[in-house]
Amino acid sequence: MVLDTTQLNRRMTHFDDHEAIWLFGYGSLIWKAGFPYLERRPAHIHDWVRRFWQGSHDHRGTPQAPGRVATLLPRPGAVCHGMAYRISPETLRPLDVREKNGYLREITTLHFADGATAQGLTYIATADNAAFLGEAEPAAMARQIAEAHGPSGPNSDYLLNLADALDALGVEDSHVADLARRVRAHASTGAEPQPR
Ligand code: SIN
Repeated sequence: MVLDTTQLNRRMTHFDDHEAIWLFGYGSLIWKAGFPYLERRPAHIHDWVRRFWQGSHDHRGTPQAPGRVATLLPRPGAVCHGMAYRISPETLRPLDVREKNGYLREITTLHFADGATAQGLTYIATADNAAFLGEAEPAAMARQIAEAHGPSGPNSDYLLNLADALDALGVEDSHVADLARRVRAHASTGAEPQPR
């Protein structure tokens, strides 16, 4: 797949005639909206898990030293918690640019705390995109995140802001929490935390 997914996303016209669209955010879109929205509500989606398996060449790293950012992996039975935004369709244009490093719009069902559901969109970077890094040892992923830096700032800010935002939502995500613990230890001592 091409490195810049903007044009691929622009061909996805599924919601163009809708007055408003629900967008599900699970990474930076939880803690850094940076776009106008009509409404914002915690939500979750089924059968996906959040993983720091996507490379970031444009925001939290560089082509020479990519960072690691969140994407979703299919996992039947899993639940991924995040934030839903009701937006107007035009707001997708700048979002396609922000998410251009491998993410594609995916249609999904959002579930809200009151039991209501809605069809909406989420941006997913699948394993076949050019920036995908995949799984690595937790210590290696944490080291990469602790050291990477891109035009949007340190990669560690992305991870730690996400960990704090999930805590504030009362969401337990052991993958994010474990990486955050390792990166915090790296920042304070430059060393890996001891196993416990
Ligand atoms: C998201 O947050 O929903 C997509 C990935 C990102 O922009 O961090």
